[in-house]
Amino acid sequence: MDAALRSLLDWYAEMGVDVPKVPDARPMRAKRPAPTATPKETPSTVTAVPKTDLSKVKTLDALREAMNGFDAGALSDGARQAVFARGNPEANLMVIGEAPGRDEDIQGKPFVGRSGQLLDRMLGAIALGEDDFYVTNVVNWRPPQNRNPKPDEIELCRPFIEKHIELAQPKILLLVGGISMTALTGLTGIMKNHGQWQDVTIAGTTYPALPLYHPAFLLRRPELKKDAWRDLLSLREKLLSL
Ligand code: URA
Repeated sequence: MDAALRSLLDWYAEMGVDVPKVPDARPMRAKRPAPTATPKETPSTVTAVPKTDLSKVKTLDALREAMNGFDAGALSDGARQAVFARGNPEANLMVIGEAPGRDEDIQGKPFVGRSGQLLDRMLGAIALGEDDFYVTNVVNWRPPQNRNPKPDEIELCRPFIEKHIELAQPKILLLVGGISMTALTGLTGIMKNHGQWQDVTIAGTTYPALPLYHPAFLLRRPELKKDAWRDLLSLREKLLSL
């Protein structure tokens, strides 16, 4: 069977959707055990939060340039490059994740590692291809040792995500993970808030925003994929209603 079709059917099955059993000539790959070592916490890279003035930035290209030239102190010093965006900037849907990881730091694009592949499969399951969404993060440089971004690192990067939304003018925001949800809505607790539509107002425009479980979290907690599937169906409905 075609690998893409197999991957889609596997995702449906994992989410508790009934799919017919299709024989596969290839043996199933054994699941890798979850890593047990937790990365050591490192202190925030930010000592003082300088206010970034992006008022003269009028295009996405100019924003990318401003980001590339921005000195985020130890945060940017510790990363290979700024990670801006991927996908279609004209799309109705803007997907906002947390921060780049190792693969994103190397490639300079958001969500290109293992969780990015799952994100693409999740969006593919509601018939969204690369051209149907635009992806970025609330923090644009990889935090040391892949740890979660700290609140002051999020504040440091806030002008970039706000300007990014203002310039891309999407119709809908998908807030991937608790950190992105908290950064843009102020809500805490992705377990209780996922799937609940919120309003996010940036530069005078209000966007409907849907918090979704982060794919990295779903890789650790596959039993939650059923809930993620429900949230994705709600996203699809909203997109179809535009
Ligand atoms: N996780 C995120 O939140 N963003 C990325 O770009 C990669 C992994």
